[in-house]
Amino acid sequence: MSENISLPLVRVEDLSVYFPVRGGVPFARKKQVKAVNHVSLCVPKGETFGLVGESGCGKSTLANAILGMVKPTGGKIYFKDQELTALPPKALRQARRDMQMIFQDPFSSLNPRFDVYRLISEPMLIRGGYTKAEMEARVVELLGLVGLSADDLHRYPSDFSGGQRQRIGIARAISLNPEFLVCDEPVSALDVSVHAQILNLLMDLQKRLGMTYLFISHNLAVVKDICPSVAVMYLGSVMETGVTKTIFRNPLHPYTQSLLSAVLDVDVDSRKQRIILKGEIPSPIDVPAGCPFCTRCPKATDRCRSEQPKPVLAEPGHFVCCHYPGPIEAE
Ligand SMILES: Nc1ncnc2c1ncn2[C@@H]1O[C@H](COP(=O)(O)OP(=O)(O)O)[C@@H](O)[C@H]1O
Ligand SMILES: [Mg+2]
Repeated sequence: MSENISLPLVRVEDLSVYFPVRGGVPFARKKQVKAVNHVSLCVPKGETFGLVGESGCGKSTLANAILGMVKPTGGKIYFKDQELTALPPKALRQARRDMQMIFQDPFSSLNPRFDVYRLISEPMLIRGGYTKAEMEARVVELLGLVGLSADDLHRYPSDFSGGQRQRIGIARAISLNPEFLVCDEPVSALDVSVHAQILNLLMDLQKRLGMTYLFISHNLAVVKDICPSVAVMYLGSVMETGVTKTIFRNPLHPYTQSLLSAVLDVDVDSRKQRIILKGEIPSPIDVPAGCPFCTRCPKATDRCRSEQPKPVLAEPGHFVCCHYPGPIEAE
């Protein structure tokens, strides 16, 4: 089959993930946490697609749904043009073999009682079909790829620093040669001093192994550096998506503008004014009718409070979901 770089590897169409809220008044209408609410996006093959937004906006839930770790309430997920949401369980397990995840916290995601060999070889052991010698050779190869050495084979997670533990997590995640890797805030739990090393390692591995990344972060500066395309999420919905450079140069959604205005980055735009949002993010149990951002948006009108904006192509490679896209007027 011919390979086309610009083809999407992962496509999400109108995806929703709602969680039931336990408790409450008996017989009353059950409430739901709308963690992901009608999200559509495309992750191009071979690229790093950034997913940004504040904590609790649904980034991990969206990733977990793509990986099949939570069941979508509605919508479709395609991986290599196979509709995962329509596959029977066995075929789904098969399809998911090419998808893996790097977790945010290498302190809790690695079993402290397992040595490095066991941690990294476990996915191969579960899949089966490898001899002991093959597994050992592969683990040593993987240690080399992530910048650790064969001397580390029989050491335990507690012997390593946070950055080194994340390298072990990365080796484990790529052990079965995944095509698609979700990096869910892969450096957020680490010392700032090792962020660049781990990000460089991820970029280097992507180049060498041809993987596609969904890179989740709340750090816009990191996204700007490593993600050619991006989706900005707020309260379970995508507010703005497209080519990162284009969106950062010309943010059209008031939410993206406020996020960018809070980044101390000299080369974004030194003339920009700081936009301070009023109020708190509403609970995902009570997502406002209309635009999810309407309760905090300086531009919101009655239309925003009643009618949810649809994505509009504002310029090539730039979609925005806003009735009034464009700069916020200075007060
Ligand atoms: N299993 C779950 N049950 C109920 N609510 C959940 C569950 N997982 C996540 N949530 C809620 O869904 C929302 C989105 O969470 P999450 O996807 O973890 O956000 P993010 O990764 O952007 O910080 C949050 O309000 C969170 O409390
Ligand atoms: Mg998360």
